[in-house]
Amino acid sequence: MAIAVHNEHTDAPVFLLHTPHSTYVIYIENGYLCHGGWFDRTEHWSGHCVCRHTDIGFSPNPPGHGDRRVFSLDTVMQEYPFAGRSDFRTPAFKAFFADGSHSADLCYKSFAIIKGKPQLTGLPAVYTEDESEADTLTIALADPLTGLTVGLSYTVFCAQDIICRHTIIINPAGAEPVMLNHAMSACIDFPDSSYRVLTLSGAHCRERVPFIRPLAPGVQQVFSRRGVSSHQHHPFMALLAEGAAETQGVVYGFSLVYSGNFIMQAEVDQCFTTRVTAGINPETFCWKLEPGNSFITPELVMVRSTEGLGGMSRAYHDLYRSRLCRGEWRDKDRPVIINNWEATYFAFNTEKLLTLADAAKQAGIELFVLDDGWFGERDDDFRSLGDWSANAKKLPGGLSALAQAIQSRGMSFGLWVEPEMVSENSELFRAHPDWCLHVSGRTPVTGRSQLVLDLSRDDVVDYLISVFSETFASTPISYVKWDFNRHLTDVASAALPPDRQGETPHRFILGLYRLMDTLTRRFPHVLFESCSGGGGRYDPGILYYMPQTWTSDNTDAPSRVWIQLATSIVYPASTMACHVSAVPNHQTGRTAPLMLRFAVAAAGMFGYELDLTKLPQDECAEIQSLTARYKELRTLVRSGDLYRIQTPWHISGAADYAGGLFGSGDSAAWMYVSKDKSEALVTLVWLMPGANPAGRPFRLQGLDPAACYRVMPVWAGDDTIYDNLTLGGAELMHAGLFVTYQISYRQCLVLKLVKA
Ligand code: DGJ
Repeated sequence: MAIAVHNEHTDAPVFLLHTPHSTYVIYIENGYLCHGGWFDRTEHWSGHCVCRHTDIGFSPNPPGHGDRRVFSLDTVMQEYPFAGRSDFRTPAFKAFFADGSHSADLCYKSFAIIKGKPQLTGLPAVYTEDESEADTLTIALADPLTGLTVGLSYTVFCAQDIICRHTIIINPAGAEPVMLNHAMSACIDFPDSSYRVLTLSGAHCRERVPFIRPLAPGVQQVFSRRGVSSHQHHPFMALLAEGAAETQGVVYGFSLVYSGNFIMQAEVDQCFTTRVTAGINPETFCWKLEPGNSFITPELVMVRSTEGLGGMSRAYHDLYRSRLCRGEWRDKDRPVIINNWEATYFAFNTEKLLTLADAAKQAGIELFVLDDGWFGERDDDFRSLGDWSANAKKLPGGLSALAQAIQSRGMSFGLWVEPEMVSENSELFRAHPDWCLHVSGRTPVTGRSQLVLDLSRDDVVDYLISVFSETFASTPISYVKWDFNRHLTDVASAALPPDRQGETPHRFILGLYRLMDTLTRRFPHVLFESCSGGGGRYDPGILYYMPQTWTSDNTDAPSRVWIQLATSIVYPASTMACHVSAVPNHQTGRTAPLMLRFAVAAAGMFGYELDLTKLPQDECAEIQSLTARYKELRTLVRSGDLYRIQTPWHISGAADYAGGLFGSGDSAAWMYVSKDKSEALVTLVWLMPGANPAGRPFRLQGLDPAACYRVMPVWAGDDTIYDNLTLGGAELMHAGLFVTYQISYRQCLVLKLVKA
């Protein structure tokens, strides 16, 4: 059992949640559920060390515990703090009751422990395949005045340092309705504030830049109020303890399995304790909980690593790769793709597509994806979203004829869709103008000339299920790219009464999850890739339905090094779609050598996004050889352990992020090591190649120290120092692999290591 209970048969049990290397303690004091800390594993816990900031001025005491020298909710560490009753820090719970008040009093009531992990109805979540993988503790809290109950769930993984939390709020039958406002997934209090906080923030085409800064009194937060997880901030936060870096030290990770408006925040209070809260953003959330109903929050996945950020990342990778992603494609190598978007944009016809398909087949590519522009009158992005039948001018034989023509060339066929959107200029909008999110009497705001369908409505979701079931069933498709190209405004639903409008953003996400769940279950053989203008909805919620995501609309290789390495802080390579595109790059204008573009795209689920028919013969031949090389590497990349050897960021507070080696911004390096450590792929890239630079050793990671590895260049240019080389695992990790910067003009070095 990963969960030990002390004082089990009393009204103040103590819970010790043991992961392999950590212990998370929950105890009860004066009837309230308190947090005892999350530290290196210990079997004994006396309570001696709990944070007792007593008799702090202006920190009140709850009735019945009025001795200010003993107890205040304002200073004790708690599991699920509530507003209005003397804890002035960020609440996990706040609701407006029938009398208009918002004070609750959540007191400990009972607990239960089960083996395994129950699923969350209607929400994506991590799962177990065998109940021996985890144990789950649920703790019930109750408000004596209103009878409202809060159930806290803790799933403790037996083989990984991971705890998953979510909360269920139940309004009992016969009570008055309650308006929920703060219904956080979890709260985690820390007894001190000597941490740096890492968040991932950015924009379209520059998603997930890591920012690291010290905590200070007040609140540091990232959030979305854009309706989806977004490019701008990410539903993830990490606390780095003193001395933590890429390869060492204690790091706490918090990753929210949710695709809508979220908040992740760290508050440092008057006693320099730190409170992390994560969940649905209360700013855009108000949920009417009727008597007899319950509300389930999204899940928060928490990792405690003693091996720095790298250890934290690998814990998330293992969990998300095999216990969040689902379906037939979860453990399969993915096909090499060609996508016609950057090759043709909207300007294509059947002949052009088939010429591209012929060149792709020649290059060894396995799947042809038809992107935006195949339906309705879609010759630009001003029209036709919602009219999902083939454009007769571009595809006179319809989708099926094109798909069959692709298949007859020995490739599979994939299709782009954007189900959640509607153009004002479309048959669908003309037939159902009230099906989009809008405020009655106001003209809705457009984004990319499109409106968002109201997925909070069951009839709209049912309609989309039937339209896309028909599209996917009537065409022989093997892959779907599911796009989403604007954020939510005018977030109101024609189907909800005024007192429930605040539910629209979350109901939209629940509708989206039902839509994705139904379609992905109905078409289990289809490889679904999510996209939102690139990585604008790259979150664990979506990964539960679709095992890979288009990482960014920015396909420029040096930019992608940043984006992909930062994405790898939480997500495994198996979830990252990465393509080689044309030069000069369409987003940055930069011209990167083909080998660099290959080395970077080969770090994920590989494909192409360029017009192969316009390339010279020698480049086509090289692409053919690169495709073949990727096929030999793809199992290792998809399933191996990632080690970031050098990261390029050079941002405030981040210079020592990766152990002091990094931050110069001129280069980056990473490795994938197979689980049995028999082989590894080492990639180094130069982002700012300089003239006449010196070489230096790079210390590798993750190898078997006792083994010898044969060095097999995938690409080392004409550098011969790696030929016929066998080096020790310990030697490579401690002394390092010498890299001659003289080859920097080639801008990358890709080596495979195989146990000798
Ligand atoms: C945004 C996506 O990220 C692109 O790859 C492409 O599919 C376009 N949308 C099509 O409109």
